[in-house]
Formats: sequence, structure tokens, C-alpha cells
Amino acid sequence: MSDFIVEPGAGVAGRVRVPGDKSISHRALMFGAIASGTTRVTGFLEGEDCLATLRAVTSLGARVERPAAGEVWIEGVGLAGLGAPTAVLDMGNAGTAMRLFMGLLAGQSFDSELVGDQSLMRRPMERVARPLREMGARIETLEGRPPVRIHGGPRLHGIRYAMPMASAQVKSALLLAGLYAEGATTVIEPAVTRDHTERMLQSFGVDVTARGGTVTLRPPTRLESTRVEVPGDFSSAAFFIVAACIGARAPVVIEGVGVNPTRIGLLEMLALMGADLRLVNHRSAGAEPVADIEVRPATLSGIRVPERLVPIAIDEFPAFFVAAACARGETLVTGAEELRVKESDRIAVMARGLDAVGVRNEVLPDGLRIEGGAIEGGVVDSHGDHRVAMAFAVASLRASGAIEIRDVANVATSFPGFAPLARSVGLRLEERG
Ligand code: S3P
Repeated sequence: MSDFIVEPGAGVAGRVRVPGDKSISHRALMFGAIASGTTRVTGFLEGEDCLATLRAVTSLGARVERPAAGEVWIEGVGLAGLGAPTAVLDMGNAGTAMRLFMGLLAGQSFDSELVGDQSLMRRPMERVARPLREMGARIETLEGRPPVRIHGGPRLHGIRYAMPMASAQVKSALLLAGLYAEGATTVIEPAVTRDHTERMLQSFGVDVTARGGTVTLRPPTRLESTRVEVPGDFSSAAFFIVAACIGARAPVVIEGVGVNPTRIGLLEMLALMGADLRLVNHRSAGAEPVADIEVRPATLSGIRVPERLVPIAIDEFPAFFVAAACARGETLVTGAEELRVKESDRIAVMARGLDAVGVRNEVLPDGLRIEGGAIEGGVVDSHGDHRVAMAFAVASLRASGAIEIRDVANVATSFPGFAPLARSVGLRLEERG
């Protein structure tokens, strides 16, 4: 098991470029696999999660070449061309991979089985299985969790489904199943969630429309291969954004970051706290908006986080809680019960980590109350959660002693190269084990 030891006293400055977006990289592989022709992807995230998806599309019959770093060419097999895998499909730590594959595999003619690592085997899958069964799929979970067994053969039919929770994974799984269904599939969201699936399916030529929280897909006869330019992952940039807010000695610029409005709730939350943030050099990477994010240090004040921002900042709460720990006064997050079913229970695990470094907090069923102030040194258990590990590395910028973070190997699931990049802007981070 590997650890980070992060010494206090550093200040950050400089320009960084973070690896490619995880959500978009998964989708590029899956859609490319069922397209007609070769899809060329640049900026692909070569993290463990997306490599699990890459192995899975290969065992389902797509040919994948990796001509250079960050480049992937997928020779699609066509909408009806996937074949039975020879073994169980292992999704590792990747919840997105498992849930999206459930949708993709539900409409196939062959059986398949999905498993994952210890963390993923504990995560809820009925949220996807239940509506897929309504579409006619035959799917079994083990008391709601993986392994997920999908029986091939049924003819799916489109449904109109109002999601009980705001989840881009559920929405995307149903849209993927909808590619194989008879009639249109409509998903109604209770709140805005990331729309990468809708944007990318459109660029593969699929008829997907989205209006006022209602997304409708009409089944296509084929997907046309395309080029996908993956922007930098906003969720990875988040650690450098917070690092700069709480510990910059000069401006920090994160270049080439995806700034899709359904992803950047963190910027609004930090702005409400008084952060000095600017988006510059706007451009687009295919269907996705991209910009450089400039951050200057600022004095942050505690806020009550508007609940509408929670789903569009859902992966950024570990980093945000660290910003709150450095703010003046109290910060309150509610309406965030989804955090309990991420790679770890991020409310409980972050609260315990904050306790370990002397930050007072109160756990709520659906959120956290944090009293900003001093951060001490201490030992934090990340519980194998990549984002918890990186958040506490950033917390060291304002700590009075070293922070030792346990069980950080999973940082490689989303952010290979985090440690050297963090050191390049000034974090005094050492890896051990
Ligand atoms: C993701 C959706 C979110 C997010 C996850 C990636 C996606 O999950 O937390 O990291 O790529 O669709 P939920 O849809 O479960 O909120």
C-alpha cells in the first residue's frame, strides 16, 4: 500500500496541464467501439479506470490501437457487431465503466458479467438495473451490488423514465440501452447532470435532443465514427484550483481544461467564497468547451452551498471541503447524499480525515458542516479513494505539520502523474511504498 507524505510550508505557482477527462475518455471508447469506421481519440486519459474500459471494448471485439501517448484509434464493429466476451469483464475501480456498460450490454444477444475491485463491488447498481429491466433487459445484481449478470437476447423497448436521483451514469446507461431499443428513450433529470453522453452521441450522428431536463434519444441505424479531442479533466484541475486559492504565491494557470457548464459548479462555489478565478482563452474541443483557468490567492469565507450546484460539482467535494477548511467561518453542504456512494463514502471519509488534521466538522446525513480555521499535521486514511488522497495533499499547503496520506495507489485511476505535477507547482509531496 503506498502513501503520500506532504510537508507543509510550500506555496504554489506556475502553469500546469492536467490529464484528459475521465468521463469523456470512457465514452469515446464505448461509442467508438459500436460506430462504423475508425474513431480517433486524442488527449485520452491513460488512467486505470479508462484502461479497464479499453480492455473491455477489446474483449467485446473492437480493435484498439494506441499509436502515441494519449492517442487511441478504435476500429468500430458497428451497432450490431459486438461479440460475447471470453471472460468476466473487470471494471476495476470504475463505476462509470460498470454502469455505462450495463446499458450497452443490456441490448446485446450474448450474456456478460461485470465485476470490479473491492470498492466497486460495494456500490449500488440497481439504480441502473431497475430502469433497464423496465426496458425489457434481463439483469441480475447481488443484493443490489456487483457482480452484475446480463442475459442476452431480449428486444428492448424505449421508456420514459424520471430518475429518482441526479445521475449522469444512470442517464447515460439508459441512453446507451436506448440505442438498441424499439422506439424513443426519454430520461427526465431531477437536476442538471453532466451532458457528455448527449454531446458525444450527437457528434456520432445520433438523434439526441435535450430540453429543460428531458433528454430523448431516437434509435439510430448506425453511429458514424468521428474524431474526439478529450479536454483536460476539470475534476483533476479542481485540486490545482483549490491549491491556488488557498496557497498560491503567484498566479496558477491550468491550461486546456474542459469547462462544460454541467461540470464547473466548483467555480461558482469558490467564487461565492471570494475566490479570484478567471476563465481565459476560450475555445472548443469538438463538442466540448475548453478554457485556461487562472487562479490567484484569496481570502475565502464560509458559505452555505446552494443545493442546485451539488450535482454539477459532485466529484469536486473532497477538494471543496479542503477549501472550506481554509475559509473564515462555517461552510454548510446539504443535499449531497450521493457522496455516500462514490468510490468511498466521501462524507464519512472526508470527515474522518478532517478530524485527523484538526478541522472541526459535523457529519449530516446528506452533507457536512465545516468550521474553517487551522489545519494541523496528521495521518489520514484515504480508504483507497483517489480524490480524498489528492484533496488532503492540497490541504498540506495550509497545514502546520506534515500530512501523511495512506492508501493512495488509486490516484492512478483518474490522475496518473499527480505527484510529479503537484511537485512542479511547489507541493512538497513525497511518495512512499
Ligand atoms: C460520471 C458521473 C458521476 C460522477 C462520476 C462520473 C460520468 O456519477 O460522480 O465520477 O462519467 O457519468 P453519478 O452519475 O453517479 O453522479
